[in-house]
Amino acid sequence: MSKSPLSTQSLVKIPSFLSKMEILKKIKRLKSMEPLGVFGFFCFSAFCFLWCFFYLDYRVVTKSFRIRTQSPWLLRFGLEQISESRRVEFLSVKGDGCNLFEGEWVWDEQYPLYQSRNCSFIDDGFRCSENGRPDNFYTKWRWQPKRCNLPRFDAMNMLEKLRNRRLVFVGDSIGRNQWESLLCMLSSAVADKDSIYEVNGNPITKHNGFLAFRFKDFNCTVEYYRAPFLVVQSRAPAGAPAKVKTTLKLDVMDWTSGQWRDADVLVFNTGHWWNYEKTIRGGCYFQVGDDVMMKMTVERAYRRAIKTVVKWVGREVNTSNTKVFFRTFSPVHFRGGNWKTGGSCHLETLPELSSTQRFSRPWFSMLMAARDIISFGTPVSTIEILNVTQMTALRKDGHSSLYYLGPTAGPSSLHKQDCSHWCLPGVPDAWNELLYALFIKWEWSRHQNNTGPSLVQL
Ligand SMILES: *[C@@H]1O[C@H](CO)[C@@H](O)[C@H](O)[C@H]1NC(C)=O
Ligand SMILES: *[C@@H]1O[C@H](CO)[C@@H](O)[C@H](O)[C@H]1NC(C)=O
Ligand SMILES: *[C@@H]1O[C@H](CO)[C@@H](O)[C@H](O)[C@H]1NC(C)=O
Ligand SMILES: *[C@@H]1O[C@H](CO)[C@@H](O)[C@H](O)[C@H]1NC(C)=O
Ligand SMILES: *[C@@H]1O[C@H](CO)[C@@H](O)[C@H](O)[C@H]1NC(C)=O
Repeated sequence: MSKSPLSTQSLVKIPSFLSKMEILKKIKRLKSMEPLGVFGFFCFSAFCFLWCFFYLDYRVVTKSFRIRTQSPWLLRFGLEQISESRRVEFLSVKGDGCNLFEGEWVWDEQYPLYQSRNCSFIDDGFRCSENGRPDNFYTKWRWQPKRCNLPRFDAMNMLEKLRNRRLVFVGDSIGRNQWESLLCMLSSAVADKDSIYEVNGNPITKHNGFLAFRFKDFNCTVEYYRAPFLVVQSRAPAGAPAKVKTTLKLDVMDWTSGQWRDADVLVFNTGHWWNYEKTIRGGCYFQVGDDVMMKMTVERAYRRAIKTVVKWVGREVNTSNTKVFFRTFSPVHFRGGNWKTGGSCHLETLPELSSTQRFSRPWFSMLMAARDIISFGTPVSTIEILNVTQMTALRKDGHSSLYYLGPTAGPSSLHKQDCSHWCLPGVPDAWNELLYALFIKWEWSRHQNNTGPSLVQL
């Protein structure tokens, strides 16, 4: 789909006599004119949003949203409706087996869960509003699974469950994005922010490969390890061809794995570095055992690495004590180019209308690999998939785009947009709400198994 051709320039020309009512009437008419198609409808609603944004007080817009939640076609798109009353609570017994990842984004006035300026754990790169992003609609969407309701995120409850424990994110910078989101979500329940500190006194920067925040009152740490491939990257072995500068040892888990093997909750992710540019073009080839595989494709290498992760978990992690999650690929939304080649997403202010997302080949491969994880060897419960790819694909509005350079630098140039990382508050909060729901459910089932059902009164 091409970008909607709106610009501030054309917005200025809107005749001011178009009242809000007229616009709403037009939308209603559009709705009944199906042949116009989803695209036309999308352009028109995007237009209306921008128009409202420029011409009306923000609160007026959001108030009209609240009223409109009764006529869901504008806010809940793409899926067959399931009536509220038929949805069960995910945490109830009936919620067992509910697919949390099938659903829709709904507007919710109670969001966001925190403000970035109230949270000191966010990189400048994710502080979109503070960096000048003009709209904040992107902070207002809640993920609603189709057949069940998620528990509302309860930071205090999660901190209690994490008491004396470690929660560790391992992966690339999108994993850091999610880790920072969780730090903000959890710290919103802690009055004394000074009681949360990095164990080595390090500041949060993207240059740091390991950061651990301790919540002193709960004796728990929430940690991030940078391991973009999850497997080891090292110098080329002796005797390798000259163009081999480094190799990824696809059969060896990252060097830091010993440090997080015993964590209580492990959240893996990988994906954004598995491409030609970040590997072979820079002289980084793939190695299995002592052999450098000069012909191996990135896709095959990726699958091999995932198998290594799965085997490692089976061998090294005691999954009665450690809950292991694997978060699937987080989609990018560059249009008309790529990172630093003019790809853009800065005009996106709404989620995708249609949930029928066609996946480009690399994503597809990432998804298939995730499915392999489930079916590969060990029991299903060993690694729980945080299957966020499809739901996240709808959120083209959530990226940092031009607003990642910090509060004083101003927006970036149009040609260097960030359409892979996410604004905070924003999309990664929703991933963490899913993480919360699955973690609490796991806790309960553990509790139940240990103490017998009679004691469980939760
Ligand atoms: C992830 O969720 C989507 C949407 O519910 C589903 O189509 C897909 O099969 C799921 N993939 C995995 C690996 O579970
Ligand atoms: C942010 O902090 C201010 C001042 O401490 C407080 O009044 C406000 O409620 C906080 N907002 C949120 C969403 O936590
Ligand atoms: C804090 O948690 C660690 C495990 O992460 C545990 O070994 C230690 O005993 C705990 N300290 C206290 C004071 O409970
Ligand atoms: C895993 O941990 C549990 C509880 O601490 C223990 O009973 C069990 O023997 C451990 N399993 C393995 C394979 O070490
Ligand atoms: C609890 O027990 C059930 C069946 O007895 C089992 O399927 C489940 O995996 C157990 N949960 C945990 C966390 O051990």
